[in-house]
Amino acid sequence: MRKVFVTALCMCALIATAQNNSADSKMDRFINDLMKNMTIEEKIGQLNLPSSGDITTGQAQSSNVSDKIRQGIVGGLFNIKGVEKIREVQRIAVEESRLGIPLLFGMDVIHGYETAFPIPLGLSASWNMEAIEQAARIAATEASADGICWTFSPMVDISRDPRWGRVSEGNGEDPFLGGEIAKAMVRGYQGTGTEKYKANNSIMACVKHYALYGAGEAGRDYNTVDMSRIRMYNEYLYPYKAAIEAGVGSVMASFNEVDGVPATANKWLMTDVLRDQWGFNGFVVTDYTGILEMVDHGIGDLQTVSGRSLKAGIDMDMVSEGFLSTLKKSLDEGLVSQKDIDQGCRRILEAKYQLGLFADPYKYCDVNRAKKEIYSDEHRAAARKIASESFVLLKNEANTLPLKKKGTIAVVGPLGNTASNMPGTWSVAVDLTKPATLVEGLKSVAGKDVDVLYAKGSNLTEDAALEARATLFGRELNRDNSTDDQLRKEALAIAAKADVIVAALGESSEFSGESSSRTTLGIPDVQQLLLKELVKTGKPVVLVLFTGRPLTLTWEQANVPAILNVWFGGTEAAYAIGDVLFGDVNPSGKLTMTFPQNVGQIPLYYNHKNTGRPLKEGAWFEKFRSNYLDVTNDALYPFGYGLSYTNFTYSDLKLNTTELTKDGEIIARVTVSNTGKVDGAEVVQLYIRDLVGSVTRPVRELKGFEKVMIKAGESKTVHFKITPELLKFYNYDLDYVNEPGEFEVMIGGNSRDVQKTKFILK
Ligand code: BGC
Repeated sequence: MRKVFVTALCMCALIATAQNNSADSKMDRFINDLMKNMTIEEKIGQLNLPSSGDITTGQAQSSNVSDKIRQGIVGGLFNIKGVEKIREVQRIAVEESRLGIPLLFGMDVIHGYETAFPIPLGLSASWNMEAIEQAARIAATEASADGICWTFSPMVDISRDPRWGRVSEGNGEDPFLGGEIAKAMVRGYQGTGTEKYKANNSIMACVKHYALYGAGEAGRDYNTVDMSRIRMYNEYLYPYKAAIEAGVGSVMASFNEVDGVPATANKWLMTDVLRDQWGFNGFVVTDYTGILEMVDHGIGDLQTVSGRSLKAGIDMDMVSEGFLSTLKKSLDEGLVSQKDIDQGCRRILEAKYQLGLFADPYKYCDVNRAKKEIYSDEHRAAARKIASESFVLLKNEANTLPLKKKGTIAVVGPLGNTASNMPGTWSVAVDLTKPATLVEGLKSVAGKDVDVLYAKGSNLTEDAALEARATLFGRELNRDNSTDDQLRKEALAIAAKADVIVAALGESSEFSGESSSRTTLGIPDVQQLLLKELVKTGKPVVLVLFTGRPLTLTWEQANVPAILNVWFGGTEAAYAIGDVLFGDVNPSGKLTMTFPQNVGQIPLYYNHKNTGRPLKEGAWFEKFRSNYLDVTNDALYPFGYGLSYTNFTYSDLKLNTTELTKDGEIIARVTVSNTGKVDGAEVVQLYIRDLVGSVTRPVRELKGFEKVMIKAGESKTVHFKITPELLKFYNYDLDYVNEPGEFEVMIGGNSRDVQKTKFILK
């Protein structure tokens, strides 16, 4: 039996002697030779990505999937957990298929592997690119130690609609920040420069969901998207492009349609923009059953939609098996060409080559790594630190926080005593029994002088069926069958014994995430009733808010003394929450998504357009202006907002010149002072407004940020460089241009409270 593995080694030896050939031409020759030997079925097979359903070796050997692997009609598998299993499946591919082509092993390693970091929306709130890159690096190290060489991350879909449950998986509403995070994650997963994919702990990233998946109508998952090209180019496409520029190896198509054609069959998106305009040369995979779903989208039967996808530029079919079952027929009927199939096959083989799988199919199958490198103390310590940076202090009246490490604390609420809900949605590799509960975390951080009591106080929701829908995948909250009154009474009895109440409320981890859209965004019914009763006790109440999305918190903001938004902070969240509540860590997270006052304001985002009838800043209702009768236009908490246990003041915003020439630059500087009593980190944010354009421009756009640590009583000067490049945008003809004119510079600690000045671009 011929083995590509063996052939590969010989080829490598031969190639090694050819001194003057570039890496690319070596790869080309290798793949040309390989493809000469491939049958059409084997070529189509490379485009096939079935789901393993975490197959065991035994099942793999006897299952349909393993038979397909032997036949050489599987290009990769995803979501198998365990290096030994993966090694065995790889062995089948390499030793028992005709050509021995190794498989890709993918997984949704979204915010960590067994060591989980905060959900991406939380991670983004750290505004710490080094920390985000480190989180991706650790995720890659752990995943690769368990056999995975390809992660379906980063997810960079901009979204302005918190009804959409998947905002938890992205980086919020801002293109610039989303782009920086996309780059940091790609670097972290893949490695950079000559280190890219080199070590066996660097894996391939897959930016998703290309494109516009976060703009589904009404926040309903998988729903229709309709958007102008100018908005796409200036706003929504930016982070995907940033990932491409950072060298991401693969792209996942989104489920939604774009201009009436589902992304998966959209040639404009997959070829004209992605490859011709942006120069992407990796491969594109569909999302789960993305091809098959186009039958329901109503653009043809499986054969038609499979052919359209291939021709649009899709290379790998996740789960639908539309390529596998119809492409040969389409080739015979002239609907697709040999070239179309070869192109997809080549791209998959290139990815395998670049990852080093032909040189060593078991590169990621070192069975000794898993024990040492997964869920290590070092990784957990990093996760704890990063989690504490992701929390956002929304309110802290009369210094309710930090808590003292003495006295009695009553932890109350359905999220206070759950391990499985701590890591957050899409943490498929986590052992859900391992995370500490909030009560355990607080006890551990507080030490012996604090008594931590607990009462559940309420179920997640009054509606048991809703609770069941929001606690899938092993994230049950052990619904209590006592009446709501009884539960509240118990909680109030515990609260009566305490000096301070920590209300652990909000969403369960599966209340957000895929297919978890909501139409109301408050803390659910019975929990809110409980909170109201706790506040009535007059004792200090700290709301520790668990959420995967912005919630509407107007009552809470008005009535609860302190609110710490902890998202879902990963496996170490409980300890990290303790670190922040007790003041060992000063909170420094800032929102990356606007928190509206109510659902009716959605979509509400900071970088909106001015309209022809804007409301004056700070004003409320004016007849015939763009506003509401019943509520102001303001956010409850704006983009970029977040408090600290200290105070920061901004002063002396200065530009070194007020005229920017075509090849010049302006340095903006501002002094930030820590006027409080403790050291703290502040995210200093630069916004720019283009005051007059050939098309309307947003009222402000984030163009820079820096997270600085400032000691109590000290000041720091923060500099930002403004170049013409930073001011470019896509005009009506979608040309990327600078337009001379006046620009406003705004610097501050959130998108609302800023210092302003102006300059002119010549
Ligand atoms: C999700 C993707 C994910 C894929 C594979 C889909 O349902 O939309 O984000 O990568 O499943 O698990």
